[in-house]
Amino acid sequence: MKLMIGSDHGGFELKEEVKKYLESLGHEVVDVGTYTPDSCDYPDIAKAGCEKITSGECERGILICGTGIGISMAANKIRGIRAACCSDTYSARYTRLHNDANVLCFGGRVVGGGLACELVDAYLSVEFEGGRHQRRVDKIMALEAENK
Ligand code: RB5
Repeated sequence: MKLMIGSDHGGFELKEEVKKYLESLGHEVVDVGTYTPDSCDYPDIAKAGCEKITSGECERGILICGTGIGISMAANKIRGIRAACCSDTYSARYTRLHNDANVLCFGGRVVGGGLACELVDAYLSVEFEGGRHQRRVDKIMALEAENK
């Protein structure tokens, strides 16, 4: 799978670890930064990363900040993005199955490397179920369209 990954400084170390893990699984990873531990602003990374999803270049993405919250909030402001901030594997799996989340977020100051890789596995190992969930996702997207 071609995947986007990005983080601010709060998620930088974890991004590097998760990126290596994804590459070891054979995924093609597009890293939108940040590329150093220096302070930067997570909305800028969310914008750069989500562009890779909305343009169709990458199928899904992973965004990391200190908590995972700020970067997911920023990502969810971008048309077409459904970002989910998860720190348990059940949510990471079901946000794909039921919400058709195209971006998974978590916090570099919240989860360790082992759990982060398990979150990614849970998220990437399933597909959107559609059916009744499609109707609900359509309603989410209608809210976005109504609130331009
Ligand atoms: C940066 O210090 C921190 O605020 C950011 O990484 C993130 O946790 C915001 O939600």
